[in-house]
Amino acid sequence: MSNYAIYFSPTNGTEKITKLLASELGAYTEIDLSKTDNEKNRTFEKDDICIIGVPSYGGRVPAVALERMEEFQGNSAKVVLIAVYGNRAYEDTFVELQDFLTKRNFCSVAAVAAIAEHSVMHQFAKGRPDENDKKELIQYAREIKSELENNKEFTEIQLPGEHPYKEYNGIPIKPKANKKCTECGACAEACPVGAIPMNAPNTTNTDICISCMRCISVCPKKARKVNGLMVKVATFKMKKNYTVRKHNELFIGRHA
Ligand SMILES: Cc1cc2nc3c(=O)[nH]c(=O)nc-3n(C[C@H](O)[C@H](O)[C@H](O)COP(=O)(O)O)c2cc1C
Ligand code: SF4
Ligand code: SF4
Repeated sequence: MSNYAIYFSPTNGTEKITKLLASELGAYTEIDLSKTDNEKNRTFEKDDICIIGVPSYGGRVPAVALERMEEFQGNSAKVVLIAVYGNRAYEDTFVELQDFLTKRNFCSVAAVAAIAEHSVMHQFAKGRPDENDKKELIQYAREIKSELENNKEFTEIQLPGEHPYKEYNGIPIKPKANKKCTECGACAEACPVGAIPMNAPNTTNTDICISCMRCISVCPKKARKVNGLMVKVATFKMKKNYTVRKHNELFIGRHA
């Protein structure tokens, strides 16, 4: 039996939350789906427990995260789904992830919706997960652990979300490098989709870019920026509805 912490996390919010939950369940092996050179073909076993964390992008699972798990074989391994979002909504993130994993023969036994600082509009959920969140998430992990220890057979949990999934075609906010760029290549190395050419790291292929903001967070010169006006407009729209603090949620399975 092995535990796995599997995450797609361009700006580390999802990583932090996935590892926090996984560490309460015991020692684990890490699989970072943000890396381009990941082993695609992985086979799990019935007794394995996979904690799989994704950020919600437009209420969906980032397509690249699913692509990187395309060839996973669950063999009835138990999975704890984590949807991390920036205080707006996660909409169909869970059902999309669950449908995908069920097809690959994983059994979803629990799920956690958790809030992290919005990676584009940082004033939403600023500083989260905070100390209260961490306490709550640890408590969730303990409840999941007890469920896993006490029950041997599980049925798939019911999670919120709809079919067909909400349409998501990306956002038009793409980071660009400015004159402070020294062409060190750190952003090109870190971009999860290869949208920054290694031989011209001061440019961005906006057709490939998924607006994940990882390049901004890794640039040592703070040379990558998004269009401030566009972010202001998006923030203005968000502010009307999504400033009230949202809560983390735990969904736990019933045994058969
Ligand atoms: C392209 C994009 C789309 C996003 N869409 C949503 C959304 O629909 N709802 C929401 O609450 N947060 C949304 N967020 C915020 C992220 O879900 C949140 O910041 C998450 O913590 C990012 O994960 P990471 O830190 O692991 O990269 C979006 C962020 C990005 C970059
Ligand atoms: S990480 Fe920053 S300084 Fe380095 S190449 Fe990218 S934009 Fe330029
Ligand atoms: S170029 Fe786009 S996809 Fe690549 S790290 Fe930057 S925001 Fe993410």
